[in-house]
Amino acid sequence: MTIRVLSVASEAVPLVKTGGLADVAGALPAAVAPHGVEMTTFLPGYPAVMKALSRPRALHVWDSLLGERARLVSGKIDGHPLLVLDAPAFFQREGNPYVDSSGRDWADNWRRFAAFGRAAADVGGGAVRGRTFALVHAHDWQAAMALAYLRFSPPESGMRVPSVMTIHNMAFQGHYGADVFPALGLPPHAWAMDGVEYHGGVGFLKAGLEAASMITTVSPTYAREIRTPQFGMGLEGLITSRGDRVRGIVNGIDTAQWNPATDIQLSKAFGQLSIGKRVTNKRALEAEFGLDEGDGPLFVVITRLTWQKGIDVLLECIDHLVGIGGRLALLGSGDKAMENAFHAAAMRHPGKVGVRIGYDEGLSHRMQGGGDAILVPSRFEPCGLTQLYGLAYGCVPVVARTGGLADTVIDANLAAVMGGVATGVQFDGVSYASLADAISRAVTLYWQGDTWRAMQRAGMKTDFSWNRSGKAYADLYAALIAEDQ
Ligand code: ADP
Ligand code: GLC
Repeated sequence: MTIRVLSVASEAVPLVKTGGLADVAGALPAAVAPHGVEMTTFLPGYPAVMKALSRPRALHVWDSLLGERARLVSGKIDGHPLLVLDAPAFFQREGNPYVDSSGRDWADNWRRFAAFGRAAADVGGGAVRGRTFALVHAHDWQAAMALAYLRFSPPESGMRVPSVMTIHNMAFQGHYGADVFPALGLPPHAWAMDGVEYHGGVGFLKAGLEAASMITTVSPTYAREIRTPQFGMGLEGLITSRGDRVRGIVNGIDTAQWNPATDIQLSKAFGQLSIGKRVTNKRALEAEFGLDEGDGPLFVVITRLTWQKGIDVLLECIDHLVGIGGRLALLGSGDKAMENAFHAAAMRHPGKVGVRIGYDEGLSHRMQGGGDAILVPSRFEPCGLTQLYGLAYGCVPVVARTGGLADTVIDANLAAVMGGVATGVQFDGVSYASLADAISRAVTLYWQGDTWRAMQRAGMKTDFSWNRSGKAYADLYAALIAEDQ
């Protein structure tokens, strides 16, 4: 029997992406399909999403969804079912889904994503004729209110459905003042410690975590880390109290998009047995970044420029990296001060440091295919995808030992190297000393040609496709549905 799941997310490739959440939400339908799950993705009707729909037809109309008129329209995303909340007052704006052109959160984000949650609860709860779902799966704070609405104010015509709340990043929780509560349209008893109330205000993610039948996050290590104040960021108590209802399921990568043997972005395709061909991509990358040609190690970084990613510490380490013969190519955007600091570093080290500020999907592929090592010095990393792409492309990950980075990279300690299972370099604690040391270790390993080659090959051999995790989600859905009956 097919299990119908509504996956509620604020972004999904190929329609809208600001980070890894989009990769995961976009890949899940295909990941669970072989295991008897038909997943429908529910997205806000941003301009890019509306544009991708051919002749949208209204399946449902809300005369007043948190005060605005809205429609439910349907389409396809990569051949899988798609539902879209067409609510122009909330989502028809150019730019980023969450922030305005000056980088500030849209002032009405609480209303936009409460409306999205209300609509998702109606759809997931069975209010739309001909569309019923056995389970609702919400991602991050933007979707979390769906579960609060399902719990406290399910659609009248609907039925009870179990739910999964996935945390992709605990740093974003959607906290608002108590004054927004009346406008949410929830019954008074939802204002409770185990409801939507959070430190005297409203907590969107908190409300979803309280309401969910099961909580998942995107790696086993992060599932443990968020029980502590450092990583739980205020929600550690709630997470701990939910005991074995919190699980880690590691993200996979979409091997149709990320495969060095077929990637049309690369000058030269390659596989495990032809790693030597990567040199053509390295030459092309050097040219693209205006770097000196050379056999020495070329480090790459592909990232949002934020504190989470340890970018401030990376900036401190650039002189060291260059000093020991490394070169660096960075693609990223975010914090303006960090962007400027990278431009300054490139000026300081012409031919050695190349910087591209912006977002460029194609370039990110070429960097994985031509770089020697990818640096991911994150302070916390729920899963991380760039190290997984690195592994698949023979671009050896140098990572902080946290979250998904700890779970997916095997450090090149002596035993791992001798056993031929090392796939990267890990370091503890994000500081100048630890990152500089990790960069030095990587450079030393790089010059031990055979060891490096073995690490590249071991990484490329590791299966980080969605096979296992797709089944893990499907099994979880089936178990929650069975438990509910
Ligand atoms: P996060 O979601 O925290 O940003 P992930 O590693 O899970 O971190 O996912 C980041 C995703 O965004 C990856 O697919 C990565 O390749 C991509 N990415 C990040 N910054 C850029 C950029 N400037 N240009 C292109 N792709 C980027
Ligand atoms: C978040 C996390 C990242 C994770 C991604 C997808 O953006 O920061 O670690 O890989 O979500 O789950």
